[in-house]
Amino acid sequence: MDRVCNQFVPFPHARSRLVTEAADSVFKGIIGSYGRIKNAPVFIAFIGDMDDPFVQEEVGYTGEGIILAATALGLNTCWVGGFFRAEIAASLAEVSDKERVLAITPVGYAQESESWEERLMTGFSRSHKRVALSKLVRGLPRDKWPNRVGVSLEAARLAPSAANRQPWGFDVQDDGITVFVRTLGPQFNVSKRLDCGIAMLHLEVAALDSGCKGEWEFLPSPQVAKFRIRS
Ligand SMILES: Cc1cc2nc3c(=O)[nH]c(=O)nc-3n(C[C@H](O)[C@H](O)[C@H](O)COP(=O)(O)O)c2cc1C
Repeated sequence: MDRVCNQFVPFPHARSRLVTEAADSVFKGIIGSYGRIKNAPVFIAFIGDMDDPFVQEEVGYTGEGIILAATALGLNTCWVGGFFRAEIAASLAEVSDKERVLAITPVGYAQESESWEERLMTGFSRSHKRVALSKLVRGLPRDKWPNRVGVSLEAARLAPSAANRQPWGFDVQDDGITVFVRTLGPQFNVSKRLDCGIAMLHLEVAALDSGCKGEWEFLPSPQVAKFRIRS
């Protein structure tokens, strides 16, 4: 995972750092939808340079690439955006003055059993459902979608988001898909653009898997970025 963190750096102002000491000290007991994190042997800090206007989506995209790589290795992770001690994380991850730790994940093997206390605290089933694609998509009607766009949108729909708020929307055009912030409402401690960056990674991985390549163009709020399909 250390190698993955150092090698998967798709944007110059977003990075991931594996921290192997004192991981437990950054988590705050019950943290929400995933219950309790304890005895985490290591954690990964997702770090952004705050001078970059697109830092949130870049960190979301980069972090989700790292999370999927860990998952492919059989490791368990959990994005933690709110319930962590940011100052301790920043000092352990050795960030510069311009940088901030926007989120972290523990990395390890999760215990299978979950206590009733944890199930009650986390509202287990509600916090894992996803909104139907029809509520997220605008633009071209489905029968006019470019080839294999449906697979990419479905992968993006399944992305995780802070408090499971799924803030993304997708505008389908002839030459690509624009990701935008669809929902109003509070940010909590995590930018909705960071969630959208996670969905961007899912969208592109599914596109690549079906043989479709493209490039991202970042856009101002409330749009996030357009995936321009290479013809
Ligand atoms: C950026 C981000 C921050 C998150 N922060 C927390 C957190 O602080 N505590 C927590 O329990 N879960 C956190 N989560 C996990 C989400 O609550 C979870 O992904 C969502 O409820 C969907 O559940 P699922 O991924 O199991 O389907 C976070 C997820 C993301 C993407």
